[in-house]
Amino acid sequence: MKRVFITGANRGIGLEFVRQLLERGDQVFAGVRNPDAATSLRRLSAQHHDQVIPVRIDVTDTGSIKAARSAVSIHTNALDWLINNAGILQRGERLGEFDAAMFNRTFQVNVTGPALVTQAFVDLLGAGEQPLLVNMTSQLGSLARKSSASTHSYSASKAALNMLTRTLTYELKPMGITTVMMHPGWVQTDMGGDNANLTASEAVAGMLNVLDRLTPADTGSFLQYDGQRLPW
Ligand SMILES: NC(=O)c1ccc[n+]([C@@H]2O[C@H](COP(=O)([O-])OP(=O)(O)OC[C@H]3O[C@@H](n4cnc5c(N)ncnc54)[C@H](OP(=O)(O)O)[C@@H]3O)[C@@H](O)[C@H]2O)c1
Repeated sequence: MKRVFITGANRGIGLEFVRQLLERGDQVFAGVRNPDAATSLRRLSAQHHDQVIPVRIDVTDTGSIKAARSAVSIHTNALDWLINNAGILQRGERLGEFDAAMFNRTFQVNVTGPALVTQAFVDLLGAGEQPLLVNMTSQLGSLARKSSASTHSYSASKAALNMLTRTLTYELKPMGITTVMMHPGWVQTDMGGDNANLTASEAVAGMLNVLDRLTPADTGSFLQYDGQRLPW
């Protein structure tokens, strides 16, 4: 049984991770911004009782991150997986219409958030079994791949997240923590839209298959949901 903390578990890929982890018997600390409004998560919670613990967390709020760390440590003194999944994508960005607040918001959620969440939970993760840090990135953060012209702040934030993950690798490896960047594919969620070619169920099943097989030698890898290595 793995002990997993995941952010952005209210909907989309995060919620599907919770569902599939519960089905296989793992214990999930499900990070959501508003547990009272997390209807789908509460339904899962009713079915799985003590196996899922909703945890309030806004990754842009340092106090909220600290409170989440305290809430999790009431239940466990170790985590095996930490999945920084919460993210935002602001559409339709155009040169000439850039806005500082919009860029800052994207970086706060997609880069600073994972950095601060990792920092807050690293001792619990360091105490886990074969501990794994997963940062949910995107192929749009790959410098080598063609990126969308209208996702400037998102693509830049995911490239920054990739670099953050690489730099963290050097500090986390001596603690026995394996660190990877994971691109989930193009997934049917609020972010991915209805035309995406993967369901959340397919994407998460693929990612779990990949994550389960990782070894310390994989640390620092940029992988997609089917295990393919992506170019930087
Ligand atoms: N879908 C795709 O095709 C795709 C492709 C590549 C990468 N990704 C990445 O995969 C991850 C999940 O994406 P998704 O498709 O599931 O997106 P989604 O359906 O839009 O869900 C995003 C989740 O992030 C949470 N979130 C947003 N801001 C937050 C904050 N400040 N603090 C805590 N949680 C916050 C949201 O919470 P609320 O429900 O409270 O708003 C929601 O649960 C993201 O990192 C995304 O960049 C997705």
